[in-house]
Amino acid sequence: MIATHHGLVPDQVFVGNGSDEVLAHAFQALFQHGLPVLMPDVSYSFYPVYCRLYGIPHEPVPVRAGFRIDVRDYARPAGKVGGVVLANPNAPTGIALPLSDIEALLRLQPDCVVLVDEAYVDFGGDSAVRLIDRYPNLLVVQTLSKSRGLAGLRVGYALGQADLIEALARVKDSFNSYPLDRLAQAGAVASFKADAYFRETCARVVRSRERLVAGLRARGFEVLPSAANFVFATHPTHDAGELAQHLRDQAILVRHFKLPRIEQHLRISVGTDAECTRLLEALRVLLAP
Ligand SMILES: Cc1ncc(COP(=O)(O)O)c(C=O)c1O
Repeated sequence: MIATHHGLVPDQVFVGNGSDEVLAHAFQALFQHGLPVLMPDVSYSFYPVYCRLYGIPHEPVPVRAGFRIDVRDYARPAGKVGGVVLANPNAPTGIALPLSDIEALLRLQPDCVVLVDEAYVDFGGDSAVRLIDRYPNLLVVQTLSKSRGLAGLRVGYALGQADLIEALARVKDSFNSYPLDRLAQAGAVASFKADAYFRETCARVVRSRERLVAGLRARGFEVLPSAANFVFATHPTHDAGELAQHLRDQAILVRHFKLPRIEQHLRISVGTDAECTRLLEALRVLLAP
């Protein structure tokens, strides 16, 4: 079902219990453990965790001004890189790279696996799946947890050429040789069958996101261009940590990362229109002079 949905054949698909599990297997099976794995310094926090777990060195590559990934920063001499991983759209910034940049990256690093984590791609990103047949070093990872709203079902998958998929299956089988449970399989199949509903839901999230972005900008926030189901925003005169705490006091949860470079930003999930309205109203009061 997943293969057909993406125009691939079954041996180009590996399914796991959530994309976190798929990522963990990919880090173990596909990256060269003696060489550094390159990743943006601002990205999904689990990537360095997997590297540390498996004893793989990792090299954070600083994102440029405006949190932009410049793929030219991933150029290294041949034989010096154990792999590359990035999220597209990136988390927590929401910024998407065009497919031409992913292709440039695959050409820059032809001798190691380039893992593109497309957890949020359905909200406006451009999927690299169509590059799979041309690039044997490309692994695309997707999940049913975000755009399909099925995080509790724990279904994620990797797409790539058959050799990469076979390597993943070998590591998985040495760890837990059973497939996904039947409920998860049934839920996943039902989700792929309900394509019209899926598209409508994604479109609704995108509409709510645009409304949220406009409301935040009207309140003075600088908001990065988001192709995800969250936005990343900073206010020029209000401390992000304090804003997050004041919102929390009103039972409105936004994410504040106490991390270098992003400590003045908030990652705000796109809720329902009613939730976004509540957030914007709470911010109007908090930001009032
Ligand atoms: C970029 C990214 N990749 C992967 C995941 C993992 O999602 P799951 O394990 O639910 O598929 C997340 C979840 O937050 C994410 O943000």
